[in-house]
Amino acid sequence: MGVQRTFSIIKPDATIRNLTGAVNAIFEKAGLRIVAQKRILMTQAQAETFYAVHSERPFFGELVEFMTSAPVVVQVLEGENAVLAHREVMGATNPSEAADGTVRKEFALSIGENSVHGSDSEENAALEMAQFFSGNEIVG
Ligand code: CMP
Repeated sequence: MGVQRTFSIIKPDATIRNLTGAVNAIFEKAGLRIVAQKRILMTQAQAETFYAVHSERPFFGELVEFMTSAPVVVQVLEGENAVLAHREVMGATNPSEAADGTVRKEFALSIGENSVHGSDSEENAALEMAQFFSGNEIVG
């Protein structure tokens, strides 16, 4: 597979509990390098665009409200097979199904307030990181 980049968000439930460093420590221990990172307050338009694929889901309004409720940390992570490696270390979307040692098992509060987002494919990673970073903000 080789070295890849993926897009990550540390969500409001984690930033407000001051868990940014703890989440990053888990990522780094899993071999993922943070090659871009910034803390932002997402606008409603940014959140609606980012999660447009979920716009017909019953939880869409709640999801947008949550993601704009407090700062998030948007990131680009780089490493061997990074998309899959990141998804593995995040754990299952629903924290009650997440494996021990994963971010969501350790920190997530619920399926909605699940501490982190990660891209599900290399193609989506490229689209997602382009929404928040210009090329020269990513330094590997
Ligand atoms: P994420 O990986 O950011 O992608 C979509 C998000 O929708 C997901 O993580 C969850 O936080 C959220 N989500 C998925 N299912 C539900 C649900 N049933 N209720 C509330 N939020 C959900």
